[in-house]
Amino acid sequence: MPRDISGKVTVVTGASSGNGRAIAKAFGEEGAPVVVADVVEDPREGGYEDESGMTTAEVIRERGGEATFVECDVTDRDQIRAAIETAVDEFGSFDVMVNNAGIFTRLVPTWETTQDEWNKTIAVNLTGVWNGCKESIDQFLEDETQGNIINIASGGGIVGLINEPAYTASKGGVVQLTKTVALDCADHKINVNAVAPGWISTSMTREYFEDEGIREDLEQSTPWPRLGRPEDVANACTFLAAPDSEFITGSVLAADGGFTAR
Ligand SMILES: NC(=O)c1ccc[n+]([C@@H]2O[C@H](COP(=O)([O-])OP(=O)(O)OC[C@H]3O[C@@H](n4cnc5c(N)ncnc54)[C@H](O)[C@@H]3O)[C@@H](O)[C@H]2O)c1
Repeated sequence: MPRDISGKVTVVTGASSGNGRAIAKAFGEEGAPVVVADVVEDPREGGYEDESGMTTAEVIRERGGEATFVECDVTDRDQIRAAIETAVDEFGSFDVMVNNAGIFTRLVPTWETTQDEWNKTIAVNLTGVWNGCKESIDQFLEDETQGNIINIASGGGIVGLINEPAYTASKGGVVQLTKTVALDCADHKINVNAVAPGWISTSMTREYFEDEGIREDLEQSTPWPRLGRPEDVANACTFLAAPDSEFITGSVLAADGGFTAR
């Protein structure tokens, strides 16, 4: 379905691999110029990417879209600011921020989770999204842009998940942050929503998708008769960014095959 997001200059964090790459490609295909913001330019090893020998920006450009890469660690607000400035300098405006970058350290019970694992997870998954919201809103207000922020949360931000205390806490934080930022920004007509993916095939999950026992658990917990793909997350994002979705704000859109509906 055409989304009418053509020309909306979009920054996607964590866009070199997995969900972020699919999001960036989907926006690129719809005619939105994309800033691919990531700590590394090449896709992570172990992902399920088509064209894994090419960077995300190369794939978008090869398909006729506009894209550029910016090295950006979302834990550093100055680097997010630089990515937004690249959007404005290279493409003339800044309209959509997709705060997608995230990490998952390992499955580990609460009592064995290290302080370092907790700190890193919160820094990237929650403070990174906060940084992305702050810098985007500054730019939208300055430009008087009816901007759009999409935060990638997780089903783990809605329900508890065994052995994932730091991850679920970070994603629960993203869900609540999204709602409050949406309330604060509504008067300015800045949309703020979250997408909560279920089990999606990326480098983050490959070892679980390939472990027969764990995969069976994932399938059993997903009512829809297949597991998720990065394109499922991307479709939710292009939907939220479209002008027709302007009355949707503060929502958490599950792209999870019914995982959190049970
Ligand atoms: N895969 C799933 O099943 C699943 C489920 C729910 C939510 N998510 C969320 O989707 C998002 C993307 O995950 P994915 O599965 O594509 O993972 P992934 O590991 O395949 O890709 C993550 C990307 O983020 C980048 N990144 C990591 N730390 C960064 C940082 N500090 N700054 C900028 N970029 C950084 C990586 O380089 C990589 O390109 C994450 O927020 C994740 O929590 C994934």
